[in-house]
Amino acid sequence: MKKRAVYPGSFDPITNGHVDIIQRGLKIFDELVIAVLKNPKKDTLFSSDERVDMIRTIFKETPGVSVTAFHGLLTDFARKNEANVVIRGLRAISDFEYEFQMALMNRKLHPEMETFFLMPNLKYSFLSSNLVKEVFSLRGCLEGLVPAQVETRLRDKFPHKTGLAVKD
Ligand code: PNS
Repeated sequence: MKKRAVYPGSFDPITNGHVDIIQRGLKIFDELVIAVLKNPKKDTLFSSDERVDMIRTIFKETPGVSVTAFHGLLTDFARKNEANVVIRGLRAISDFEYEFQMALMNRKLHPEMETFFLMPNLKYSFLSSNLVKEVFSLRGCLEGLVPAQVETRLRDKFPHKTGLAVKD
């Protein structure tokens, strides 16, 4: 029987930290379902279709990875997809409280589902989608922090069309 896990998130946009977690997850699970949160109440830079599309492009050659948008409860999504493991990345102690609360609420809602924490490479421990957006919008360099496809899409979103640091 194949071991399947769900890796949920906003992925607005996916970063190399997320990619690192997916690669680590694939060493443990046969199938990963990347679940992209579609929340009309949350302001995102990229639409859920754009976020799904970026992740599909990045993993198009990687067996075992599928990408789907979801809304509603994560536990319902996991049940529907016959996965009883959820993967989350832990970068630092600061992530812990939120993740711990979420894992225990999910356990209350779905006692058979486990949350499985993975730590990314240390070089991504400071990285977040929000910082990526801020740095890019202020023309900072994102080298090594996001997949090339993401940088291309970021260029389409911001008027200055470049993420390279500029000198005065
Ligand atoms: O990348 P994020 O924004 O930290 O991911 C958060 C996510 C999508 C995992 C979380 O918001 C979520 O699971 N949302 C679905 C709604 C839900 O199930 N809420 C109860 C969780 S305790």
